Amino acid sequence: MVEIDTSVASIARVYDAMLGGKDNYEVDREIRDRIVECAPEAMAAARDGRSFLLRVTRYLAGVVGIDQFLDCGSGLPTAENTHEIAQRVNPDAVVVYVDNDPLVLAHGRALLDADERSHFVAADLTRPAEVLADPVVRAKIDFSRPLALYQIGTLHHVSDEQDPAAIMRRYLDALPAGSYVALAHLFNPRDGSELAEVAARVEQVCTSSSLGSGWFRTGEQILRFVDGLEVLEPGLVPVADWWPTGPRATPLGLSQRAYVGVVGRKP
Ligand SMILES: C[S@@+](CC[C@H](N)C(=O)[O-])C[C@H]1O[C@@H](n2cnc3c(N)ncnc32)[C@H](O)[C@@H]1O
Repeated sequence: MVEIDTSVASIARVYDAMLGGKDNYEVDREIRDRIVECAPEAMAAARDGRSFLLRVTRYLAGVVGIDQFLDCGSGLPTAENTHEIAQRVNPDAVVVYVDNDPLVLAHGRALLDADERSHFVAADLTRPAEVLADPVVRAKIDFSRPLALYQIGTLHHVSDEQDPAAIMRRYLDALPAGSYVALAHLFNPRDGSELAEVAARVEQVCTSSSLGSGWFRTGEQILRFVDGLEVLEPGLVPVADWWPTGPRATPLGLSQRAYVGVVGRKP
């Protein structure tokens, strides 16, 4: 039996609500609604994040030939998941998900029950030594060959006090050369622009509510999380602008520019 506290919001459930999923409670939907009040295109930005994950995975599995993925902060299976995308391109691709939300773990385990190439690890991604030493991670991922590490929509839930750059350094050090890192993060240019104002308002909603996290960082701060990697074209951009599948049919909304992504390769 999964113990779910429905009196406080959870990151995974609020995100599920942003994506229009069903695995969320009133407390999560209230926060989603307050976010959308400040940033009307926030739900589109959440969908952009999933599409970014899809395009990155298709690229890494299909073009680069990466066949092992360590996906930190997998989220609820609202949309197509990393293993489904990677294994469609390469049926032998191995995916290990890491998350610490009880509902995510329950869903993940049920989803992956019959799949011997996809695995779930219940761990705190802010403790890289524990994640990297986890027996499932060690058994399923071969750290002598290139892999892809995902931190998609995770590090903005890690406070400055927890030192996300130091956390990432531990992960990056463990990756063999030729590995890739995909990262998506909430963005505040802190330049007095309208985008900066919207970002600050949403941050206030996220951090002062029972969600308790959701820090928007500058491009410079976000790029520190991939320090030492070769950043792929087109660099750190709104997730919707990272190799879109075609010309944009409608202009990007303001709040869609507050969710940025980057992919780097370890030389
Ligand atoms: C915003 S969701 C992103 C989900 C997915 N990566 C995506 O982009 O669609 C963030 C996920 O990270 C997980 N998460 C947040 N902090 C975590 C931590 N310290 N350890 C493990 N998982 C964490 C949450 O439970 C949630 O499922």
